[in-house]
Amino acid sequence: MATSKRDQTELIVAAKRAKRQAYAVYSNFRVGAALLTTGGEIVEGCNVENSSYGLTICAERNAVFHAVAKGATGFRSIAIASDDAGFLTPCGACRQVLAEFSPRMEIILTNAAGHKKITSLDKLFPIPPDLKKLSRRTSKSKK
Ligand code: THU
Repeated sequence: MATSKRDQTELIVAAKRAKRQAYAVYSNFRVGAALLTTGGEIVEGCNVENSSYGLTICAERNAVFHAVAKGATGFRSIAIASDDAGFLTPCGACRQVLAEFSPRMEIILTNAAGHKKITSLDKLFPIPPDLKKLSRRTSKSKK
């Protein structure tokens, strides 16, 4: 189901609000993300960096983990905001994590100028691995 214009606007506002909480002391690249759950709730996340750089978590994954911790595992859409002039798309790791829950969710990209672009996770990550199906096949083939 497509996200309404009103929900898109609300999600963008939430993603920008989350961006203000970013802990980006190493890259100085602040990112905010806001998920709309299938239950209609908005859940936010920001990037959180670490002095051991590889431990950094992106805003998108932080939003997903935050949502799951609140009991939500189905998502209609996500808005992503940064201060860049271009449209930031989720990194590969985040695409994978988003696809675990809602592989066809809508993705609302924004830029610093306040413009938006709508895409979807199945466009950015078209053939996600589905271990649930794979393991079902494995267990069947063992019988
Ligand atoms: N980052 C995100 O939070 N989301 C993205 O989609 C790309 C990158 C963060 C990770 C790191 O804190 C900073 O941006 C620079 O890569």
